Amino acid sequence: MSVSIASQVKPLELLDVSLSFGVVEVLRDISLAIAHREFVAVVGPSGCGKSTLLKVLSGDEAPSTGTVTRQGQVRTVYQQDGLFPWRTVTENISLGLRFVTDDQERQRQLAELLDLIRLHGFENHYPHQLSGGMRQRVELARALAGDSDILLMDEPFSALDYLTRLRMRGELVRLLEERPRTVVLVTHDIEEASQLADRVLVLTDRPARIRREITIASPRPRDLIENAVVEAARRILAEVDIESPR
Ligand SMILES: Nc1ncnc2c1ncn2[C@@H]1O[C@H](COP(=O)(O)OP(=O)(O)OP(=O)(O)O)[C@@H](O)[C@H]1O
Ligand SMILES: [Mg+2]
Repeated sequence: MSVSIASQVKPLELLDVSLSFGVVEVLRDISLAIAHREFVAVVGPSGCGKSTLLKVLSGDEAPSTGTVTRQGQVRTVYQQDGLFPWRTVTENISLGLRFVTDDQERQRQLAELLDLIRLHGFENHYPHQLSGGMRQRVELARALAGDSDILLMDEPFSALDYLTRLRMRGELVRLLEERPRTVVLVTHDIEEASQLADRVLVLTDRPARIRREITIASPRPRDLIENAVVEAARRILAEVDIESPR
């Protein structure tokens, strides 16, 4: 069987990456190669350095030592609200579609994305007129618009209620099937990581190192209660420290 060149290119690679903010050491000796169209989830204790790791991958933070290589166009969904407050829902999403030159095609894609996030009737609303969950859905639509090769997402579903979260996961899987990309998803949701990722990186407490990598070979879409998902969740849970109530 011939191996395509695309599958040999590593879209993202970190080699011995460490990062400190002043005296605060956040990342320590992280080496990581993410394969073309691989879906990697990153989990770890709060404040351990997950968002920082994502910023190093996107290029928004430079490591203190070590090297980062990146092949392809990156789109990032940050944990904090990244919408333009002076632009409407439609305008915010359209920014992601600005490279689609054909007018009709752009309109078609816009309608499809509005459908996905179910915000009909709110097209002309500004971010401050939306709830936190609605804003998160707009961010997701904007990130999925266009065709960047690499999608980096920092807890994109965290403000959504459980059922919306389940639906958005399903939609994400469907969209990735249609328009495959390389994905890194930071999440504190073990169930989400188990249902979506090919590989889950469990980070240690700060300074974050890779504590364990868990590979999930089962094809997507995955049912929440299927063995591979339950088993992965069990393995991740065994790796994360759960503080006992005091
Ligand atoms: N720009 C910055 N300047 C100084 N310190 C920072 C900066 N960004 C992050 N930190 C520190 O780095 C550490 C890791 O922060 P980070 O946001 O990466 O954690 P996280 O794992 O994403 O946390 P959470 O689960 O709460 O989102 C924290 O101690 C934080 O205070
Ligand atoms: Mg974070």
